[in-house]
Amino acid sequence: MLLLKAIPSVFLLVYCSAAPAAPSDDDDAHLTVPELITKYGYPVEVHQVTTTDGYILTLHRIPHGKNTDKVSNRVVFLMHGLLCSSADWIFTGPDHGLGYLLADEGYDVWMGNARGNHQSRNHTRLNPDKDPEFWQFSWHEIGAVDVPAMIDHVLEVTGEESLYHIGHSQGTTTFYVMTSMRPEYNSKIKAHFSLAPVGYTNHMTSPLMHILAFWSGPLELLFKLIGVNEFLPTNEFLALMGDTFCRDGDITQFLCSNALFAICGFSPKEMNATLFPVLTAHTPAGSSTRQLVHYAQGINTGTFRQFDFGLKNLEIYGTFTPPAYDLKLITAPIYLFYSHNDWMAAERDVIRLCNGLGDSCKGKFLVSDNSFNHLDYLYGISAPKIVYERVISLMARH
Ligand SMILES: *[C@@H]1O[C@H](CO)[C@@H](O)[C@H](O)[C@H]1NC(C)=O
Ligand SMILES: *[C@@H]1O[C@H](CO)[C@@H](O)[C@H](O)[C@H]1NC(C)=O
Repeated sequence: MLLLKAIPSVFLLVYCSAAPAAPSDDDDAHLTVPELITKYGYPVEVHQVTTTDGYILTLHRIPHGKNTDKVSNRVVFLMHGLLCSSADWIFTGPDHGLGYLLADEGYDVWMGNARGNHQSRNHTRLNPDKDPEFWQFSWHEIGAVDVPAMIDHVLEVTGEESLYHIGHSQGTTTFYVMTSMRPEYNSKIKAHFSLAPVGYTNHMTSPLMHILAFWSGPLELLFKLIGVNEFLPTNEFLALMGDTFCRDGDITQFLCSNALFAICGFSPKEMNATLFPVLTAHTPAGSSTRQLVHYAQGINTGTFRQFDFGLKNLEIYGTFTPPAYDLKLITAPIYLFYSHNDWMAAERDVIRLCNGLGDSCKGKFLVSDNSFNHLDYLYGISAPKIVYERVISLMARH
């Protein structure tokens, strides 16, 4: 049995690396986020925020839609997921990207970038290519430090007291971290929308995340395959995913070499192949290995809690196990969107999260399409119709 499994893996290793590169003649693939936004006729601003611990973060703003010059006082902050960036809200184009759709609905749209992704790969003192210390963070620091710093900047520039917050995947995790670790931020949130909520992770089905969870014991071995500091999986490691992932068909041949899809899966029905060149240009956008290990710890323990440093916990937290995020401290109104084919956000985990949030969980919506996957909230052809329309109509109530 083992041998039988090994043969296709080796075959797929060759097959994946020999898969033709995506066509590269698409102009959009060569443009930066501000260049893309400008090309499609929208105004754009680039802002930088330096966190208290020295990370230099980039925010992209679309202050208004195409049909007006007025900047509205309805401000929305979008936070991307693991290995993603602000690009993921816009590169699918003006008829599809949530960043554009919100601008045209009359919102002042701000898109954050977490420390360590390609847009926020800088620090006042540390060099991401030379200093391992740069990468000593998980989504805990993104939620407790980066998101509050960016929100403060947005509120200061706009002169508003509160904003709407939309997160995807890890962008939901970081929201729960922020509002539980720094509860004073609850009052700065008019309403939060979680697309593919990730708090509890122990029913997550992603094979790659389970391999990480399984291996998070002998870490040195794991780190050889996926990178000690920055998450940089080897081709060999990605090919290990082969038997679940690389199958016949143009779409899978292309996607099997992309770390993001190897983690999250995809539904062929929702993929728009025209977007592959621009998608590859921006995604995966980089993250620390610790961000993945932190999720893997949640798979193993069934908890939603701070990073487990093992023997150092006592020194860091004063307890043998890391403290749990206290969901009772979260008071902002929250709406959860989840789906049945999501490898990262399992229905049982989402329902447990909603129960833990109590009165704050204002609604949970199961996406009507059963094949809808984790990344379809960003790239799926029907995302505007079956997800964004509802988000926008709920926003109008707050
Ligand atoms: C696929 O993406 C292209 C480029 O944004 C767009 O023109 C086209 O309408 C999309 N196709 C579908 C089926 O959504
Ligand atoms: C990183 O930030 C420093 C300021 O601390 C700046 O001088 C440098 O140009 C930045 N590097 C990049 C690649 O943006």
